[in-house]
Amino acid sequence: MSFTEVGIVMGSDSDLPVMGGAGEALDRFGVCYRMTIASAHRHPEKVARYARDAAADGLKVIIAGAGGAAHLPGVIASLTTLPVIGVPISTPHLGGLDSLYAIVQMPRGVPVATVSINGAFNAALLAVQILALENRTLREQLSCYRRELAAQVEERDRCLQRGCRDGEGPPWG
Ligand code: RP5
Repeated sequence: MSFTEVGIVMGSDSDLPVMGGAGEALDRFGVCYRMTIASAHRHPEKVARYARDAAADGLKVIIAGAGGAAHLPGVIASLTTLPVIGVPISTPHLGGLDSLYAIVQMPRGVPVATVSINGAFNAALLAVQILALENRTLREQLSCYRRELAAQVEERDRCLQRGCRDGEGPPWG
């Protein structure tokens, strides 16, 4: 039987196209997760409940994505001692720098591990790395994933040496 170990939470369904990347990465490693929408400013009670119950619900890591004045990850981190990974979501006016600064600049005492703007896939990889501390199978899967990345680089370089890209013909040909 598999248990839900990762919580993916986001401020709005408009964050889903980005946060889906976290699910994609966790699926790849066979890690069970639960997605939730819980806005820190539109429904703070739900956020508080989510964060306070997270450990008892079996979660080990929380990935929280938000855009704009993105306080969701920080608020959750303030209500649980589980590791929280923040994903700054890109925004129409400030391009996500607002979200990045809001999430990454947590004052001393309550950390939020912050990935790049829209970096939901990497957030999930970091969650897997945390879980892998106590899971040998995940450690092996991570090593295998890194080998795949290296093999892709080698393949791209071989392609470049042949004067082509992504299996296509040479750009000048
Ligand atoms: C934040 O406000 C959400 O995380 C989202 O990124 C942003 C915009 O939300 P919507 O107006 O699209 O619902 O709370």
